Amino acid sequence: NAAKEAQQRGWHLYLVGGAVRDLLLAPGNQTLLLQDIDLVVDGFHRAADVGAGVELASKLREIYPQVRLSVHGEFQTAALIWHKDPELGSLMIDIATARTEFYPYPAANPQVEASSIRQDLYRRDFTINALAVRLTSPKEGELLDFFGGVEDLRSHQIKVLHANSFIEDPTRIYRAVRFAVRLGFKIEPLTEEYIRYAIESGVYEKLRLENHPAPALTTRLRAELNYILEASYWKPALQLLSHLGALRPLHSQLVLTGELWWEIRCVSRWLRYLDPDHHVSHWLIRLEILIASLKTEERIKIASNLQLPKDSIERLENLDSMEKTIKSALPNCQKVSEFVLLLRQYKIQILIIVGVRSDKSIRHIIWQYLTQWSKTQALLNGNDLKAMGYKPSPKFKEILDQLLIATLDQKIETKQEAVDFVKT
Ligand code: CTP
Repeated sequence: NAAKEAQQRGWHLYLVGGAVRDLLLAPGNQTLLLQDIDLVVDGFHRAADVGAGVELASKLREIYPQVRLSVHGEFQTAALIWHKDPELGSLMIDIATARTEFYPYPAANPQVEASSIRQDLYRRDFTINALAVRLTSPKEGELLDFFGGVEDLRSHQIKVLHANSFIEDPTRIYRAVRFAVRLGFKIEPLTEEYIRYAIESGVYEKLRLENHPAPALTTRLRAELNYILEASYWKPALQLLSHLGALRPLHSQLVLTGELWWEIRCVSRWLRYLDPDHHVSHWLIRLEILIASLKTEERIKIASNLQLPKDSIERLENLDSMEKTIKSALPNCQKVSEFVLLLRQYKIQILIIVGVRSDKSIRHIIWQYLTQWSKTQALLNGNDLKAMGYKPSPKFKEILDQLLIATLDQKIETKQEAVDFVKT
């Protein structure tokens, strides 16, 4: 329908970006479930109206009224979102008008103008993402490969289209690493040189989160960090980022030392064991442990510039004092209940971070707490107390807490002993 509507208006419609790349990479017999589809409209031998993408999306919205339409005025793109069944997930189709982007200054947000498909593809990040398939006739189904993307897919290379690519958009460094590791590709040597040049050139002062970078840029950067640190391939990706010197744009002193590398792997092991269902955000804790290697003032600057969630910023801000309290109080605890009463004041995220940054004995106690002691429950609950004839009151909590302490310290082991304990 999208192609038909475009055709009627004398426009061309193209499938572009990641979907084309993934379709070409998929083995012939494999069905690919596309959930994120990018379409681009342009005119025959001329630029289409700037509003063509939005017009097409609005027309499709009339045909499929169940779809949600959202328009991004600034870049003249429209997104159509289908909420399909829970198994298949949702489908998102972005429709943009072919455009040329100008970067008024390095690392700025691009300014946009309508143009042809070739120019639209030229503004993209890598050759493998600058392929298009024409969906309208004539030549419907034709693959447009102006920049050697197919050959790079064959030879497994991540290659930029021009030397300024990383200067214009610093988040592309993170994308290069993400695609390289995810697809098992190599960053082409000249592209790697451009990355190193961009980092060395100091243009990243703009991005560097010690300063005050453009909010849109940091949002994109946070999204890339989220992708990388959440992915199953986060370890090789982080190593590659470090190898390229690409942690420096985050902070000039951020270096993946052997110690930090150990800590972040340890955090991940703990998270895998303690939180297999991802109740907490694993990528964020990995990012926090990286940021925690810096001084407190620097941590806060990075975390707030990256617009991390409030609780994450608070953790990084208060880490030193919480760490100090925990590390000085733990050696004075003797009974299990004393450890529990101290550690239960802290959320799992902070205990994991403090745990992996501590010496072996403290790490061991925090691990014991997280894996065993924190799961111990009093042998009776409020209903049991009611059944014993007590009227519910604030005292219940105190009694149950005393019961828990006695249970933790193995003074009582059976329900009958618990009942006797309450009576006395
Ligand atoms: N793009 C770009 N520069 C960026 C981000 C995106 O040139 N900094 C272009 C690329 O052509 C990319 C397309 O926009 O293919 C869509 O971006 P996105 O959805 O982020 O990436 P995909 O290639 O679709 O990859 P993924 O499969 O990870 O979603």
